Amino acid sequence: MATVIEGKGGFRAWLNKRMPVDQFVADQLTGYYAPKNFNVWYFFGSLALLVFVMQIVTGIFVTMHFKPGEATAWNSVQVMVREVPYMWLIQPMHAVGASFFFVVVYLHMARAMLYGSYKAPRELLWIIGMLIYLALMAEAFMGYVLPNGNMSYWGAQVIINLFGTIPGIGPDLVEWIRGDYGIGDATLNRFFSLHVIALPFIIALLVMLHLVALRQVGSNNPDGIEIKEKLGKDGLPIDGVPFHPYYTVKDIVGVGLFLTLFAVVVFFAPTFGGLFMEPPNFEPANPVSTPDHIAPVWYFTPYYAILRAVPDQKIGALLMAASVVAFLFLPWLDRAKNKSIRYRGAASKILLGTFFITFVVLMWLGLKPADGIYVLLARIFTTLYFLFFILLPFVSKADGNGPVPDRVTYHAH
Ligand code: HEM
Repeated sequence: MATVIEGKGGFRAWLNKRMPVDQFVADQLTGYYAPKNFNVWYFFGSLALLVFVMQIVTGIFVTMHFKPGEATAWNSVQVMVREVPYMWLIQPMHAVGASFFFVVVYLHMARAMLYGSYKAPRELLWIIGMLIYLALMAEAFMGYVLPNGNMSYWGAQVIINLFGTIPGIGPDLVEWIRGDYGIGDATLNRFFSLHVIALPFIIALLVMLHLVALRQVGSNNPDGIEIKEKLGKDGLPIDGVPFHPYYTVKDIVGVGLFLTLFAVVVFFAPTFGGLFMEPPNFEPANPVSTPDHIAPVWYFTPYYAILRAVPDQKIGALLMAASVVAFLFLPWLDRAKNKSIRYRGAASKILLGTFFITFVVLMWLGLKPADGIYVLLARIFTTLYFLFFILLPFVSKADGNGPVPDRVTYHAH
């Protein structure tokens, strides 16, 4: 009889001959040295991975009971949460999970901006991150349309019609995306297919590439100092610690905090005051009854505010596209020598701080009706938004070149 387990370590030896498991652990976990000064901002990469897996797992169960289509989608969601065991929990986990995904990804991106993690040699890592962000926006938008609530319907109407502003091909493109003259069965079925198969697959692939690119250059850190440049006698970075067990354990703390917060929201405030689930989406789609005020979910509203800040819809759509694409150019717009905001001057700190505030204010403005004072404010903050990207090359060049410490700053707890 061929024994797989030949005494102590037998199975492990058998496995390693066929798949380099130990080699992988040695290369990527115990032998991978990460900077020892990671702070809480470094939780969000692993948390993004966690939310992604959670969305896939809860999504598998939602898909089992969901019936895409104009006549069936809305009812199938109502039936699954009321009749199918545990779907009262799993369906809201999926819906709330979408918002948490964006909370985590926005904080993850903010961290990269604080510590200049997009700068050389991590430009490609940042670009792959931006591609994930774009794919995630498409994924979230389509998921939102699927249940065919009234805001799903009217939100999709507004967003898909934006493609109509593209000169020449616009109107045909809108019809091509919908697959019909209005949002109907064809639209809902193709969105289902893209939401459940194509986009998760693309996101998973991009996340893998993101991690491969990260391993190639190594993590940045709050000081923005390359730890690979200071090696000890053993050839290892003196400011690094093995990823496992140090950061696997630290990340578990982040996971615990995250899951606690997530559970509180799912159990006690799943709609989050209408921010995570909007009131009009508790009614089925009604093509003859527009919600009082159409707004996308909070994570899209900064861009929506920019779109509506301009009277001409074509220019508004162009500015909106530019406001997203602008992030792609950050590695080249930032001309400072130092990476981290810690070692940049006051002007850089004010510029970045103002940008973060601007983003949040635009988020709020996008949720408000586009009239009166809100329009004026949207115009002011849209200007501030673009000023960040315009001023960055000058400000970063002028005051991002001061002295940096020799070693990373680390205070033992
Ligand atoms: C599904 C979404 C994403 C996942 C699962 C993910 C995962 C990760 C992980 C595990 C890390 C290493 C741990 C850490 O530094 O926190 C990381 C680093 C990084 N990610 Fe992401 N990421 C995602 C989206 C993004 C996006 C949208 C961007 C930017 C547009 C981005 C930019 C970066 C950068 C620049 C780093 C290196 C940061 C540093 O070393 O300081 N990521 N990501």
